Amino acid sequence: MMGTSICYLNGKFVDVAKARISPLDRGFLLGEGLFETWRTYRGRPYAIAEHLARMTRSAGRIGIDFDPDEPWQERSVELARRNRMLDSDGAVRMTITRGRGPVSLVLERTEDPTRLMLFRPLEPGLGAAKRDGVAVHLVSVGSGVSERQRQIKSLNYLPAVMARTQARERGCFEALYHLDCGKVLEGTTSNVFAVKRGVVRTTPISMGLLPGVTRHKVIKLARSLAKLREEVLTLDDLAGADEVFLTSSSIEIVPVVRVGRRKVGNGRVGELTRGLQRRYRENVARELDLPIELLGE
Ligand SMILES: Cc1ncc(COP(=O)(O)O)c(C=O)c1O
Repeated sequence: MMGTSICYLNGKFVDVAKARISPLDRGFLLGEGLFETWRTYRGRPYAIAEHLARMTRSAGRIGIDFDPDEPWQERSVELARRNRMLDSDGAVRMTITRGRGPVSLVLERTEDPTRLMLFRPLEPGLGAAKRDGVAVHLVSVGSGVSERQRQIKSLNYLPAVMARTQARERGCFEALYHLDCGKVLEGTTSNVFAVKRGVVRTTPISMGLLPGVTRHKVIKLARSLAKLREEVLTLDDLAGADEVFLTSSSIEIVPVVRVGRRKVGNGRVGELTRGLQRRYRENVARELDLPIELLGE
């Protein structure tokens, strides 16, 4: 597949078809690992420092050694170069695991944690999704969030795979998690915002959400354009919103025009969402020192 033929694995760039990970890797056996995905524009990683910081925090919490000061930025650029992605946009997915260890549930430090970076193309149809807006599907995660441990980006994405698959089967771009009581949390790999009468709202991280890098950037941008409140969103808020949008590193800002069967607002992409999309892009172009028209989808 274009852009994914070479990966970085434990210090070397290798052909994906030849890369090998031990059957005793605890990431494989127990999901004992973490991942981060950052976007690249013309091969240049965006907000990599924030992603490495989140990985370092999460690694610390589960006792995996991770050094953010290794030359990850240079490796990310080299990975894009080797995958011939310096003239277009994509994303880098970094996975780290505890590495080889005993087949036991007890947490032990290992000598050789696994570090993998894969290049991946952007989602097909992302440009149309950003322009025209998308539908989202609602998935209940029960009555509590404590077991979900969303604040670390661990490898345990099975619920996300199931929810996203259900969403796609219904023609929806993303699935949004909510509690039985109607509180809305986040998407499977995105954060969610709603706009009502010019006020932008998003559920606080303290509800057990992943602290999205893009969420943080969009909160700052939204504060410069409108009123912003970090408050728990409910299903009723989504149903009554004028605008809803999703954020994540690889998709940036994607407008939502339908939640389940209901239209959002008048069913068209709202002005505030458009304004945020533009401002976000301007910031990317400025921070990466790239002409804005060179940024892809
Ligand atoms: C559960 C979850 N929430 C939110 C996000 C968005 O985070 P970011 O903006 O850092 O990409 C992700 C990203 O994959 C995620 O997995």
